[in-house]
Amino acid sequence: MAERNWANRTLWTGDNLDIMRGMNSHSVDLIYLDPPFNSNSDYQAPLGTPAEGAEFKDTWTLDDLDVAWVGLIAEEEPPIARLLDTAGLTHSKGMQSYLTMMAVRLLEMRRLLSPNGSIYLHCDPTASHYLKALMDAIFGRTNFRNEITWYYYNKLAPGTRIFGRSFDQLLFYAFGDYTFHPQREPRDAPVRQLVRERVDGVLKNKRDADGNLIYRTVDDKKVDAVWRIPAIQPAAKDYIGFPTQKHIRLLERVISASSNPGDTLLDPFCGCATALVAAESLDREWVGIDISPKAAELVNVRLQQTMGNLFHNRLVTNRTDHLHRTDIDAPKNYRQHKHVLFGEQEGRCNGCRTAFEFRHFEVDHVVPSARGGSNHISNLQLLCGSCNRIKGDRPQQFLLAELRRRDLFDDGQFAT
Ligand SMILES: C[S@@+](CC[C@H](N)C(=O)[O-])C[C@H]1O[C@@H](n2cnc3c(N)ncnc32)[C@H](O)[C@@H]1O
Ligand SMILES: [Zn+2]
Repeated sequence: MAERNWANRTLWTGDNLDIMRGMNSHSVDLIYLDPPFNSNSDYQAPLGTPAEGAEFKDTWTLDDLDVAWVGLIAEEEPPIARLLDTAGLTHSKGMQSYLTMMAVRLLEMRRLLSPNGSIYLHCDPTASHYLKALMDAIFGRTNFRNEITWYYYNKLAPGTRIFGRSFDQLLFYAFGDYTFHPQREPRDAPVRQLVRERVDGVLKNKRDADGNLIYRTVDDKKVDAVWRIPAIQPAAKDYIGFPTQKHIRLLERVISASSNPGDTLLDPFCGCATALVAAESLDREWVGIDISPKAAELVNVRLQQTMGNLFHNRLVTNRTDHLHRTDIDAPKNYRQHKHVLFGEQEGRCNGCRTAFEFRHFEVDHVVPSARGGSNHISNLQLLCGSCNRIKGDRPQQFLLAELRRRDLFDDGQFAT
């Protein structure tokens, strides 16, 4: 396990991307994330609940993207860049933008996870199949373990011309020699089973001295990938009105199955911190991040309720600053000019407009440095090698005129 550059029981308010980028690699054993689902709705907590004032946006457009993310993915993970483009073509630009937001964060989570770690991504059918493809690309299809269906049977599902949508999904991936403790749950009704025993390596029905078969009554079973756990009801004791608060039993199951006491949990979209409360009660170490200051406020209230005032005040660290990694010498530059330009130009050459892979682009000065052009990004562009050679040390107008003259300028939507 790598050295951790933050304390157990830290609660961060801020964008999880900035914070995770400052965390040392391989420093967590288990990640549970319950991000916005791309549900196309914006959440607000009901008035009069402790969570009043909590809200978060779950509608995505290309304007929500930092263009540098697009360039970074194109440079480091070209197949994922293709996957994102495809989602834009087959589903919508909104899905592409949502998945790009998720991809940069999931790449950091992959770096943070220990070699024997596990990750559970909570989602619903709005984006689950696109997320599965993205998770396979990032975490490796052979590390995929389960798609868990969380069936919240107690929540009335609206819709008159469809079957009720009364489940979420958890995509579970685990690495190396990962921890897994099978869980048990009661059966609806006890069953009578034959008692079996192994005789000379062969499994046989057990019999008593008179040769009669022996039975036993079994009233529990191993939990499978369909989890019948209720949705939290507004009347519940621990309901604080956070718009997407999850039932504590869901998180207790994830944590009990996939970690040991003393292991470290990260919840980068912690909301009102159901996962952190469950981790605390199961003796796991934890760190939580949420962008909304209201979330941190609620988490503190909830943790105080579970840990007691005294303990809480002494033990929980609230932070808003950005971390610096101590496991590398210089911070990684996630925002190079080339990344930003690639995103702004949507992967197309600024001369011929043809789409190329990141590595085929060259950074060019729009106004050549020889003519006083600066190195500021506003004077930079990406050109393909052949356009860059045509342009040479000349101004942009020359390049465009030359491309038109040679009939190489493509002002249509798609380069062929
Ligand atoms: C679906 S809720 C999580 C609910 C949580 N599992 C619970 O039981 O309360 C998603 C949360 O992600 C937070 N969020 C959205 N974008 C974020 C970001 N970039 N960084 C950190 N938190 C973010 C929202 O403020 C919201 O609280
Ligand atoms: Zn070109």
